[in-house]
Amino acid sequence: MAKKPLRIAVLVSGNGSNLQVLMDKQLSQTLNIHIVGVISNKQNAYALIRAQNANIPTFVIDKDEHQKTYPRAEFERRALAVLDTLAVDLVVLAGFMKILTPLFIDGVQARNLAMINLHPSILPDYKGLDTHTRVLRAGEIQHGCSVHLVTQELDAGQTIAQAITPILPNESADTLQKRIHALEHQLLPMVVHWFAEGQIVIDNKTLTHNLGAPLPLRLYYS
Ligand code: GRF
Repeated sequence: MAKKPLRIAVLVSGNGSNLQVLMDKQLSQTLNIHIVGVISNKQNAYALIRAQNANIPTFVIDKDEHQKTYPRAEFERRALAVLDTLAVDLVVLAGFMKILTPLFIDGVQARNLAMINLHPSILPDYKGLDTHTRVLRAGEIQHGCSVHLVTQELDAGQTIAQAITPILPNESADTLQKRIHALEHQLLPMVVHWFAEGQIVIDNKTLTHNLGAPLPLRLYYS
């Protein structure tokens, strides 16, 4: 019998190009996934339009009826409630720019769900924002992106896989950002595929895998 598609909720704040890649691969059946909902903390995120175009349910948790942004805890309670209605297997943070607190992270873990984040650096280096500028300023010779488990400490959960590329002569933050973005579009679906195929399993906060090499898997691009 065919394996059931992995039910995924994607949390976004902006453009949603990584969401687009996942939706395209769902449509072309190159990933055995079902994106059951897209949750945004920004009502004007372009990712919402992408999801609507693909007939994927969207959930905006941004401002209350007085146009006041929801306090963090209220956002998280509402997002957990959405996850419950969707019967999700995996939560993907793809360009989700709000820092999550233990309320949400413990809530996800209590439901025995996996949650991964895409971060534009070779973790554990360059956690946080503005990674491309900081990497250039520090004179690094390479940069990349990581997919990692989300735990209570920001950008510090177990790293599953990384895509790495050399920094080119005359590189600007802009060119670097574009090149890393393109790598993200390859890395995220690859990791999602491992979850969908049961090659990575999270149970009781513990990751097990049969990928045949220690994590993180590192992929080098020229
Ligand atoms: C990516 O660069 C990701 O690493 C960061 O936010 C960006 C999201 O891009 N967390 P997009 O919204 O998927 O286009």
